[in-house]
Amino acid sequence: MMQITPDEEIRGFQIYRGMLSPDQQTQVLDDIRDVVRAAPLFTPTTPRGKPMSVRMTSAGQYGWVSDRRGYRYDRAHPTGVPWPEIPESVMAIWDGVAGVDRRPECCLINYYDEGARMGMHQDRDESDFTLPVVSVSLGDDGLFRMGNDTRGGKTESRWLASGDVVVMGGAARLAYHGVDRIRAALTSPLSRRGRINLTLRVVD
Ligand code: SIN
Ligand code: FE2
Repeated sequence: MMQITPDEEIRGFQIYRGMLSPDQQTQVLDDIRDVVRAAPLFTPTTPRGKPMSVRMTSAGQYGWVSDRRGYRYDRAHPTGVPWPEIPESVMAIWDGVAGVDRRPECCLINYYDEGARMGMHQDRDESDFTLPVVSVSLGDDGLFRMGNDTRGGKTESRWLASGDVVVMGGAARLAYHGVDRIRAALTSPLSRRGRINLTLRVVD
């Protein structure tokens, strides 16, 4: 496989800027719209019952859900429909950067409107932390904050733009991260405001 190198590596987070061309972004967004038609975005709540500001849905054998019963992977959307398959256009992004011989079983789709954010958290509900998490940004810019393996301490932030891909593997696999703020992009492949982030993971 062709080897590509990240534009920047921060605390183990590998940032590939503009990895997706405008045409590729349009293709991925078309495919994600099909997923959302079959498995609509929903507002998750924290285990304590507080609604999150992002709306989400998933594709793949597993989807990530959060409600009063806690955070977990589930085989079905809250309405009971199975999650749609992960589109091939999205699989291809994983193949280009993940560097492992497994393919993702979950593509979490997070939709951020202008006021949405994502608190600092670890991704640790998967069974094998030697496998990376791959994140794809589309639409408006998101201010992505990268921290440490424990909560708190120094952090560094970067704006992620449409078409950027971040690989969270190695030293970054269990590092805390979050999104503080969304800002309007000068050009966006979306016809309205908002940011879409895809995170790809092997679950089992
Ligand atoms: C996440 O970590 O779940 C999302 C990251 C992002 O939106 O960039
Ligand atoms: Fe995450």
